[in-house]
Amino acid sequence: MPIVADNISYAYNVGTSAESVALRGVSFTVERGEWVSVVGHTGSGKSTLAQHLNLLLTPRSGSVSIDGAEAKPGSGESRVARRRVGLVFQYPETQFFAETVRAEIEFAPSNWGVSGGALKACVDEAVSASGLDPALLESNPFALSGGQRRRVAIASVIAMRPDYLVLDEPTAGLDAAGIRELIQFLSGVRDAGLGVVQVTHDLRSALSYSDRILVLENGSRVVSGTPEFVARHIIDNPVRGLVIPPVVRFADALRKKGMNVPLICEVDEMVRAIGIYKERNKKCGS
Ligand SMILES: Nc1ncnc2c1ncn2[C@@H]1O[C@H](COP(=O)(O)OP(=O)(O)OP(=O)(O)O)[C@@H](O)[C@H]1O
Ligand SMILES: [Mg+2]
Repeated sequence: MPIVADNISYAYNVGTSAESVALRGVSFTVERGEWVSVVGHTGSGKSTLAQHLNLLLTPRSGSVSIDGAEAKPGSGESRVARRRVGLVFQYPETQFFAETVRAEIEFAPSNWGVSGGALKACVDEAVSASGLDPALLESNPFALSGGQRRRVAIASVIAMRPDYLVLDEPTAGLDAAGIRELIQFLSGVRDAGLGVVQVTHDLRSALSYSDRILVLENGSRVVSGTPEFVARHIIDNPVRGLVIPPVVRFADALRKKGMNVPLICEVDEMVRAIGIYKERNKKCGS
């Protein structure tokens, strides 16, 4: 069963001079066991959409349903639904309030009545899944590095054992090794059957790892579909602020020369295809 956002619209500060429309009739679906990336220029509505998926925001029009149940604000169902959709904020520190990492991670499960050995198991499981160093459990979360804070935020959400994980810019500020680890973590989470929504500026990683991509511009859906489909679309119809990764541009140029490389591919795959092409041309020429 999926999360379905159907034709949702949202504006901030309605009725004031600061009113700003953030989403305009956007539809979006994520199934369990699927990884969907949401990409777009700054201000395109990505974070606003992410906050609708766990019911933190309520659409002005349109609807959001989680596993078939429409999420109405304040209803018991929406409380349960929120537990099933874990949201890791764009700036994780905005999520923290406890004095220790342990208290931060324990908060949600203990709120749901988990205690004693079961609570400890929840925390240990979340710490290990998120790759957080257990030695940091008694530290103040505000005293940690950006990468460590990100892991605490992920662990505190994983501790609720959600069915869906929505992460807003989870790779921002991480170094290359941190990004690799996060990508591995998300692949594992998806393979374990959770639905993953990753909001990101990083088109390269969205194209390489997600199952589907939604592109937003100025609050509207530009295109959605498989990475291959989305890459083709944005090569042909450039989107403001979205830079096509050089490897994809190069693959596109090779395809135009008749080489059979996938549009989304790694460099070694491309080198292999060039080798086959050269070999074929040599044979034709001899
Ligand atoms: N709390 C808020 N109050 C008023 N306007 C807001 C608020 N949050 C977002 N907006 C506006 O809504 C629009 C969409 O913002 P949103 O944060 O969803 O975009 P985004 O794609 O996540 O951007 P970024 O890549 O910079 O994180 C923007 O025009 C933004 O200025
Ligand atoms: Mg944002």
